[in-house]
Amino acid sequence: MSRINVAIDGPAGAGKSTIARAVAKKLGILYLDTGAMYRALALKALRKGLVPGSREDVIPILADTEVTVRNNAGTQITYLDGEDVSQLIRTQEVSKGASDIAVIPEVRIKLAELQRNVARENDVVMDGRDICTYVMPHTKNKFYVTASVEERARRRLSELNEKGEYLEYTLEKMRGEIASRDHTDSTREFAPLTKAPDAIVIDTTCMSIETAIETLVNNIRL
Ligand code: DC
Repeated sequence: MSRINVAIDGPAGAGKSTIARAVAKKLGILYLDTGAMYRALALKALRKGLVPGSREDVIPILADTEVTVRNNAGTQITYLDGEDVSQLIRTQEVSKGASDIAVIPEVRIKLAELQRNVARENDVVMDGRDICTYVMPHTKNKFYVTASVEERARRRLSELNEKGEYLEYTLEKMRGEIASRDHTDSTREFAPLTKAPDAIVIDTTCMSIETAIETLVNNIRL
């Protein structure tokens, strides 16, 4: 029996993880948030005072760093060397650090191997930047979820503000940070963010999350 492997790529704040989590729930299969894995590694580098984008800084810590994930009733718990860092990785500093550390090929190779093991052993919906193009290019279920940068900045800021965080941020500042992350993610040499030629595009700029979920589910091929 072949596995159900659903791959979802797209830029920051397009609604990927909300959609991916809901689709996994509907199908009754696992959800893997691959961005959380890059975030956990970035957190480690930042805590050690290292520069996440520096190969010289990061490569020496890779071998003895363990990033693991566990699924708790549909919600992913992310562990860094055994510590639950699921909340700590949701800051803007870690977002930038994750984008920077993700440029390093050795980082990507290590995390992609973990992600492929999950896809081999489970039916899974996986979201990230290179899932369709690099992690599981052979899956027939490929999606590219996107939205305008303005809309993504607005959503991200209101999500953080709802938690009482980043109240001092302007929309313009958030837009700048998202655009800069888009640039880093899509211009890196190794496995950049790009739409796979055979991916179905879902633009959520003017679409409700419910419609996006439905569109994606209706296009899944078993
Ligand atoms: O999806 P996210 O915002 O949590 O991802 C954080 C960063 O991690 C993103 O800016 C780039 C990197 N990333 C990646 O390079 N490849 C992935 N598959 C997932 C995330």
